[in-house]
Amino acid sequence: MTLPNKTLSVAILSGKGGVGKTNIALNLSYCLFKAGHPLLLMDCDIGLANLDVLLGIAPEKTIQDLVDEDTPLQEIITPLARGGFDLLPAASGVPELLELDDDAREHLFERLRPLFSRYNFAFMDLGAGISPTVLSFATMSHVRVVVVTPEPTSLTDSYALIKVLATQHGLREFHVVVNMAESHAEEREAFHRLNATCERFLGFSVTFLGGISLDKQVADAVRKQSPLMKLAPKSNAARDMMAVAVKLAKLREARLPELAHEQALRPLNSLHGPAPTPPTEAADAATPQNE
Ligand SMILES: Nc1ncnc2c1ncn2[C@@H]1O[C@H](COP(=O)(O)OP(=O)(O)OP(=O)(O)O)[C@@H](O)[C@H]1O
Ligand SMILES: [Mg+2]
Repeated sequence: MTLPNKTLSVAILSGKGGVGKTNIALNLSYCLFKAGHPLLLMDCDIGLANLDVLLGIAPEKTIQDLVDEDTPLQEIITPLARGGFDLLPAASGVPELLELDDDAREHLFERLRPLFSRYNFAFMDLGAGISPTVLSFATMSHVRVVVVTPEPTSLTDSYALIKVLATQHGLREFHVVVNMAESHAEEREAFHRLNATCERFLGFSVTFLGGISLDKQVADAVRKQSPLMKLAPKSNAARDMMAVAVKLAKLREARLPELAHEQALRPLNSLHGPAPTPPTEAADAATPQNE
């Protein structure tokens, strides 16, 4: 008998690179683990791993060993703390691994599925942009967190990512985190621009999950290769990340009955047909800042 699923899979995405995905994935994971949730943090930026660098560790085996050979999962999973805070590392500086073909992706997902049941959350730190690997992980996870900054290029690229996931994969639920805003007004304005463009050209709203302040302590934590939540739990950015983590814990709680009927990593292509309304010329031309 298989137990009902209790794992909420969360994909951390962005249109543009360097907006804070890896820092957010790590610190949200840390908060949720500290709050008592067993959690798997997956470095899905295959070939350009970052989480190991932020943690100051050098794992021997990586997600690539899952793809290439039948290395047992327990040899690849790196425990970050006792009690179920685990990392599935990626390979750093191996550009040829950047893209997996369909077969390799399917094989990887098959191997990952049984692992998920141990955790309350599986966080996937993805590469920036719209690669097939990003689109697969985004489609298979329950929750998509899109990280944006107030920069126009970040908003435009995020909209492009959301548009592809909506029009090609039928997804309509996106949770937005605005990172590195200098004020609440700037944070709200950035969210409003993205949301208004999605409403107008795609026909649905996106959800505001939270804002994370621009805070130089984040860069300090990166330099010290330790999570911000551990190093400076009282900093502005840490406080903001905690608020986002609390929201995610509530979201999981609310979804438990529905999660029980799903798989921790949903099958590709089986759940989402194409979007009800096909993309229009206007949607292709839309950018959040020309609203
Ligand atoms: N809230 C913040 N305040 C100040 N600096 C930040 C904040 N969030 C992230 N940064 C800085 O931005 C840089 C990029 O962050 P990070 O590596 O997490 O981005 P990313 O989206 O994962 O990048 P990539 O797309 O390359 O994977 C980091 O070096 C960090 O110092
Ligand atoms: Mg990253």
